Order: sequence, then structure tokens, then C-alpha cells
Amino acid sequence: MCGIVGCIGHEALVRFLIEGLEKLEYRGYDSSGIAFHNGEEVKIYKAQGKLINLKNLLNGCLSENSNLKAGIGHIRWATHGVPNETNAHPHISFENKVAIVHNGIIENYKELKKELIEKGYKFSSQTDTEVIAHLIEDSLKNTDSYSAAMRHALKKLQGAYALGVIFKENPETLFAARKSAPLIIGVGENSNFIASDVPAILEYTKKVIYLDDNEIAQIQGSSYKIMDLEGNILEKQVEIIPWEPVAISKMGYKHFMMKEIHEQPDVIRQTLFDKLRCFSEPLHLPEVKLTHDTLEKLDRIQIIACGTSLHAAMVGKYLIEEFIGIPVDIEASSEYIYKRTVISKNSLIIGVSQSGETADTLTAIRQAKSKGSHVLVITNRPDSTMAREADSLLPVNAGFEVSVAATKSYTAQLMAFYLFAIYLAEIKNSLPQEEIEEYKKELLQLPQKVEMILSNKEEINECAIKFHNTRNFIYIARGINYPVALEGALKLKEISYINATGYPAGELKHGPIAMLDDTIPVLSVLVPGKVYEKVLSNSEESKARNASMIAVTSADDENLESIFDYIIKIPKTHEIFSPILTTIPLQLLAYYIAEYLGKDIDQPRNLAKSVTVE
Ligand code: M6R
Repeated sequence: MCGIVGCIGHEALVRFLIEGLEKLEYRGYDSSGIAFHNGEEVKIYKAQGKLINLKNLLNGCLSENSNLKAGIGHIRWATHGVPNETNAHPHISFENKVAIVHNGIIENYKELKKELIEKGYKFSSQTDTEVIAHLIEDSLKNTDSYSAAMRHALKKLQGAYALGVIFKENPETLFAARKSAPLIIGVGENSNFIASDVPAILEYTKKVIYLDDNEIAQIQGSSYKIMDLEGNILEKQVEIIPWEPVAISKMGYKHFMMKEIHEQPDVIRQTLFDKLRCFSEPLHLPEVKLTHDTLEKLDRIQIIACGTSLHAAMVGKYLIEEFIGIPVDIEASSEYIYKRTVISKNSLIIGVSQSGETADTLTAIRQAKSKGSHVLVITNRPDSTMAREADSLLPVNAGFEVSVAATKSYTAQLMAFYLFAIYLAEIKNSLPQEEIEEYKKELLQLPQKVEMILSNKEEINECAIKFHNTRNFIYIARGINYPVALEGALKLKEISYINATGYPAGELKHGPIAMLDDTIPVLSVLVPGKVYEKVLSNSEESKARNASMIAVTSADDENLESIFDYIIKIPKTHEIFSPILTTIPLQLLAYYIAEYLGKDIDQPRNLAKSVTVE
């Protein structure tokens, strides 16, 4: 949520700020702004709406200008105050001495605002952020030291912040600070940068420092100091980012989402690489730091996640219970954190998060960790806060995902759960060796099967043409495909804004069936296996209420044609692996429908990819 950039010492400063914000647009996109010091004063430019509006405003300012000093930029996902120009960042203090950009929420801003108003400060925005600018300016009245003023002000804040700060009277210094919101420093040659995430700086430097909570950075063109809130200087490690800038281009696709959908076969191969070495050898998961002895004694698992990651967790629960026979509870992180944390001696907590920065999940795993649990994190970002705080890490290697709607990261999370469930089954001896070998063989077949779906999209496209004007959509499935129905419905909601709901197929008759008539399409996910006949019956019940019927299936069943108006065929696989295949047509269907509706597919309204507020 909200993206921050900052730079000092670079001659193409404004260009860096704008291009950096462009790379962070997945974090929010309702307004944007930049501020830079031109040697005399701090200039601020802001615009409501997408970044293009700010770019148009700045037309002509983008050329190199070595006279510019420090600069900061921001792309907003509104929390306090509507997304207009006044509420857009940067915010400037009362006497124009301090300009700041902020990501996070200041929980005690009302109290602070009251105190500042009593002191004579005037506020112009509805944001929580503006108090920070005034507070720092107020602290400057009692000290000549900018870092002391920063520290003094930050100690008064409750809540979360990543901050970029520049001062009118100190043009050669950029300040940054972090508490519960991500922020990195990019270390360049005679220029330094700050950003909420790596892509913003990747073209300028691969050397980064990850700020931790309650740390402040005082940054100049060719030096930096990092300190704690007491002013003690800290030694921080400079790390090298292993990615190339090309990893974040559309590679000829119209949208990142379509490119990312097509990357899934390679993502699966990549996930298996080096882990599944030979069918008869145990899986190799060196990142799992639990001893075999602890894993053997494991008697309960809790999985916490949000959104799409929560759907992957639901598949994970099914797999682990099926393969190992121990209870697995799953919970939305936002619910987990407001309940008593009940943990037993032999339990494990698994946090699942594409970004590794989702505030709800981060708080939940911290809560579990503080109670003594071992926390295993499944994330696509080994450089994220969650990954750095985890006891064990299962990286999913999906590569950088730009589209707000998660696709390839979800498939990679599913793969992580397949590997982990088989790994546990091998340690706990809970499945016959032949069965495990069968599963491993099938895992290796999955990339080609996904490729087959991707090379035959005609049927899916036809469904999209037929149904893109519908206002409601129902997805049904059972067993291990029930989370797929939820995920398919979420994809459609996110990018087309159609009211789509996933149900366990057996639940339809307990209420939702009352809605059905010829205006509501019902999509059934049904693959041969334990629940096939049951989903078929539930589909017949829907057909009898005149619903338009779509099947996503691998079955060669002549009966299907009498029930379904559209049949989207997928290759055959063992039922237990079918979520990897059934998911793909649902991603494509959501994409095509959104495309026919002319929606902004990669940046759907009201959403942001990395949700760093609770
Ligand atoms: O980064 P995380 O996986 O923790 O994010 C969780 C959700 O915010 C995320 O999955 C969201 O639901 C996506 N937009 C789904 O497409």
C-alpha cells in the first residue's frame, strides 16, 4: 500500500522519482506526487488519479538537472481522506520546512493533531500523514540537529510508517525511517536512493540495505548513516539483489496478468528444480529448519494467510490432512490476530504470503512467534520482512509478480504445499513409498499439462464472450477443488467487478440455489475422483433452475453435454493435483471477461498488491 521513492545526488533525479513510482504502481494508484529541492526551495507537484496525470503535469521537468538536490515521491492508496490532490503526498509542514512521504497508518494522529492545533499549526489535508510533517517541524524548534528532530518526532508516533523526508534548510540530506512498513536504501555511486520495494531502484543499483523497525537513515549523495531512535549508529549489511530489470517487463503481452499466467509452466518447473531429484530419494527442502525429530512429533498445523494466499492455504490443509492425517487449521490472518493464540507444544505455524509484507499476516506470525511457535513462511519474496523473520522459509520462486491479481504466485504456493506435504509424509512414513513415487512422477508432468491448457484457450474465450455482461456468477466445486472455486470467483471479482461467489457444491441447496435462474451462470469444477458424481448432481440441480452451465473438467463423460452449455476441457491428472490445472482456465476466464469489459486489468480499482496496513 502506497509506494515511496527518494533520491539524493543523481542528476536525473526527477526521472528516477517518476520511473521509480511507475515500478511501484502496483502498491496503489489513486494519486501521486513528488517533492525535490532545487537548491533554493522545496518544489512540490501532485496529481489526483493515475501516475500519468503527474507525468503530464511534469512534462518538461524530466530532463537531467544536476542542480537538484534531494527528492521524494509517493504513489497513494488512500486510507485517511479521499484520493484528491490535497490529500496526495508529499505533505509539507506549516512553515514549509519539512516535506514528507509516508506509507502506513498513524494510529494516534487525532491526539497529535489536537496538540499541534493547540500550538497554532494549521492543517490542510484530511490525512494522518500531515501530523508527521508538523511534528518534525515542531521538534526542530528545540534542536539544530535534523536527525534529533526526526527521532524526537518519531518517538511520539503510534502505528506504522515508512517515511521519506527532506528539509528546506538541509538540501543535501534525505532522511528515511521505518516501523512496520517496508523500506529499503539503494546504495549507488555518488547517489543513494530509498524505495518501498526493489523494482524502483533496480535500474540504478543492485546494492540494498533493508531498514528494520525503529531505524532512521540519514543519507547523502555519497554516504549514509543508520541509527536507532536513541541516535546510536548501527552497522547494517549491504545485500545484492539477484534480479535483472527485464524480470519486470511485459515481454510483449498486453498485460502483466496474461504474461504471468503464461509463466506458470516454468514456475512449476522452477519450484521442483533441485527439490525433486529422484523419485526414490526423499525430497530435498533444506530451507525447512525443523529437525526430523520435531517433524515426526508434529501433531497440529495452523496456516495463516489472506486473499489468494488463503485459498492456497486451503488446498494445503487438504493435502496435509490427506497425506499425514494431522489436523490443520486455516485462518484469515486478520481474524487470527484478534483471537487468543492457542498453540500446543508440537504445533507448527505456516504463514503464506506472495509479498511477504502483508500487515495482517506479518502481525499474525509475529504473534505466534512470541508464543514460542516455530514459524514457516511460504513466500515469493525471500527478501521480504516475513522471510527475514521466519524460522523456516519455503521460497516459491515465481519471480516478480506485477499484476495486482495473483496468478503465478498462487500456483507456486500450491506447489510449495505439494512439496511440503510429500516431504512430511516421507518423514512421518504416512504414505506407502509407491504412492509417493507416483505423486512425484505426476508433479513432473504438470508443466506440460498447464502448457496444453494455455495453448487451447478458444473455449474459455467463447465463455467470456457469452458471459461478460452478466452481473452475477457462481462457482461450485467440492473437496480439494473447493478453494479453486473460491479463487476463480475472487479473480473474476477483482478484475471485472462482477459479483462472483464460490460455494462448496453441496451447499447450494442450503440457500444460494434460491438465486438461480437463467441470468446467473454456474461454473462447476469437476474432475474424476471422490466427489465427481456429487458435483455432477449439484450441477444438474442448478441446470434444473435454468442456470447457464459451464464445466471445467478432465472427464470423458457423455452425460456432461446434456448438463453443460460450455465444457472447458483440461488434461487428466490425479484428483489430488487437479487444482494446479483447474485454476488456469478460471484465471483466463476472469482475464478475458475483464478485457471484454475494458477494465484496467493489472491495476483494478480500489486494490493494491501489497497490503501493508491492517
Ligand atoms: O502478498 P499476500 O499474498 O500476503 O497478499 C494477500 C492478498 O492481499 C492477495 O492475495 C490478494 O487477495 C490478491 N489481490 C489476490 O489476487
